[in-house]
Amino acid sequence: MKRRNFIKTTGMGTATICTCGLGINSCSMFSGVSKTPVAPEGSVHYSENQVTLDLKLITDLNEPGGSVKFEITQYGEIVKILVINSEEDGFQAYENKCTHGEREIEYRSEDKILRCVSFGHSKYDLDGRVTEGPAPAPIKKFFVNHQDDNLIISLA
Ligand code: FES
Repeated sequence: MKRRNFIKTTGMGTATICTCGLGINSCSMFSGVSKTPVAPEGSVHYSENQVTLDLKLITDLNEPGGSVKFEITQYGEIVKILVINSEEDGFQAYENKCTHGEREIEYRSEDKILRCVSFGHSKYDLDGRVTEGPAPAPIKKFFVNHQDDNLIISLA
């Protein structure tokens, strides 16, 4: 059977490769937006590859286990960022984008992991390394410097 006829008869021309074990690429059908609270207006300042968070305004980061998300525009591109307050390592910041299908990730403090909110549920440790799921690469982790009431995140 010729390739064109095979595609016609089987419909394989539009199928995507299953990467989540559900028979379809299910992550592409899912909005992938997490329930992580958004950092309050006025609490995020971006300048020259550096984000400064005013921790006085972000109550969701007051306690270990908390997390917030926000977006900045860097060189015309939107960069989504997740900041967590982890029990053992304090404040950590990550690109909020699963490397499988670019859906958001969330901090699951009870398990001390980051997990993609999509059906694939890729999991990452707090260093950003993949521990489970279809994600092909680690998530980007940013350098964080905690100074008094400010958290400075370096995106360079
Ligand atoms: S987008 Fe598929 S596992 Fe994250």
